[in-house]
This record gives sequence, structure tokens and C-alpha cells, in this order.
Amino acid sequence: MSQPATPQPEPLARETRETLDAVGDQVAIAAAFWDAAFSEGRFLDLPPDGFVTAIAAAAEQHGLLPGPGLCIGPGNGRNYLPLVAAGLDLVGLDIAAAGLASLSERAPDRADRLVLGDLSALPGDAVYPVVIGLNVFQHGTRAQASAHISAALERVEPGGLFCLQVNSDRARTNRPHELVERADDGSFTVRYELPGTPGLYSHFFAEPSLAALLAGSTPVVPLHIDAIDPATGEPGPWHRWQGIYRRPDPAEAAAS
Ligand SMILES: C[S@@+](CC[C@H](N)C(=O)[O-])C[C@H]1O[C@@H](n2cnc3c(N)ncnc32)[C@H](O)[C@@H]1O
Repeated sequence: MSQPATPQPEPLARETRETLDAVGDQVAIAAAFWDAAFSEGRFLDLPPDGFVTAIAAAAEQHGLLPGPGLCIGPGNGRNYLPLVAAGLDLVGLDIAAAGLASLSERAPDRADRLVLGDLSALPGDAVYPVVIGLNVFQHGTRAQASAHISAALERVEPGGLFCLQVNSDRARTNRPHELVERADDGSFTVRYELPGTPGLYSHFFAEPSLAALLAGSTPVVPLHIDAIDPATGEPGPWHRWQGIYRRPDPAEAAAS
């Protein structure tokens, strides 16, 4: 019996190719978007994500509690604060000044652990036993979002944990957007048409792409889908991949 043909991605239209090439400074565009959102109090009434409990449990199991860590994109703190309460002394690194200002107001004792900027704002050699990125690696094109995950992984100490939650290709967005990119495995990128911050790109990962980025690390909690309603945090249609991965420790390999 002949195999059904593998669906092929449609070639990109010329206009779409141009949209992709004109992506601009996504960090600046995302910062403007999130500054506006946090100024309006976005997320303040949302409960912490259930994944926070799994991160704390994995850190405990690996002897990393209490201890230091890095949270990329804590925003105004809905997940950062319970992780700190669980014993992780997290540097909070965010490009949105309004998010960090709100987080400082909620937890003044954390103000000196908050850093405005992206990974390039950290000392070049800074690594952490736990690195967490929840709903932050979606910004930009496929190449930019993938590079962000790889750069974050580089910030994990040998033997440390990398915890991520990121848009899945199974999520469906109802915000006005244009599809600008689609990979063979189904990963795709959209360009949102939002009032105030035009040109915000968002990438949606298919599992093979994400698994390839994490291939050098060992799953502690393997990638799996978690689906919520972003407005309430209750189960819903917004599909994210989440997982916890341990970076290899060359010293352990040498000792065994
Ligand atoms: C969707 S919010 C997620 C907030 C929080 N992590 C959560 O899960 O509720 C994305 C956050 O990531 C921040 N962000 C986006 N790109 C970033 C980057 N390159 N470096 C640091 N923070 C970034 C945004 O400013 C915003 O605070």
C-alpha cells in the first residue's frame, strides 16, 4: 500500500518573505507591548501557573532548594513570586520596565534582584543552577525564538535545570495576525496587527523543533502540552509546551 504523501509547507509569498525580512527590533517592540500591558495591570488577577509547583519539586529533588536561579521574563511576578517563596532566589530579568516596577511594588525586598534588559544585560559568564523561562521565548521569528532558547540554555550551570513553557503550534490565536512563516514540522510564526504595537512577531513551536533545541539535555519532566484559557488560567484552548531539562555535567561523566 502506498504511503500518504507528507504534507509540504506552502512556499512563502513574496510579500510574506518581505514581511519576514522586515522584522525589525523585536526586543524593542515586545518591550513596548509589555510595558503597555503591565501599565494596565495585566496578569495581576491571574493565579500562578500550575507548572510552578513542578519546577519547585524538580529543584528540590535535585538539591537546588534553597538556592539561586534566573527567571527570564518574570513580568509583574505571578509565577516569579511563588517560585521565590518556594526557596529560589531568582534574578528577575525583563525588558519591560513597567513589569519590573509593578513587581518591585509587590515585593520591595526583591527590587535589588531585578534586572532591566535581555540576556545581554547579564555578565557574559553568569550561569545559574536553575534557569526559568515561562511564556517568554515566543517573541520573534523562528530563528530569533530558537536562538533565545539556545542562549538561555547556555546560562544553565552544568548539572542545572532549564524550565520552559512556550507557545505550541496547537495554540490558536484570535488576535488579528498574518502568517509569515511555516516550517516543515508545523512550527509557524505570525505577525500581530495590534493597535499601539504593530509588528509584534510570535513563534509557535512544533515538538520536533523544540526537542531538537533541548537535545543536549536530559528530560526531568519531558515536554508535554498544557492548555489553558489565558484570561483565567483555567483549562482552555491556549496550548503551550512545558518541560524541565537537566544540562549534562561533564564532571559527573568523568567520575563514572
Ligand atoms: C507573556 S509575559 C510572561 C510573564 C510571566 N513569565 C508569566 O508566565 O506569567 C512575557 C514576559 O517576558 C518579557 N520578555 C519578552 N522578551 C524578553 C526578553 N528577550 N528578555 C527578557 N524578558 C523578556 C516581557 O516583558 C514579559 O514580561
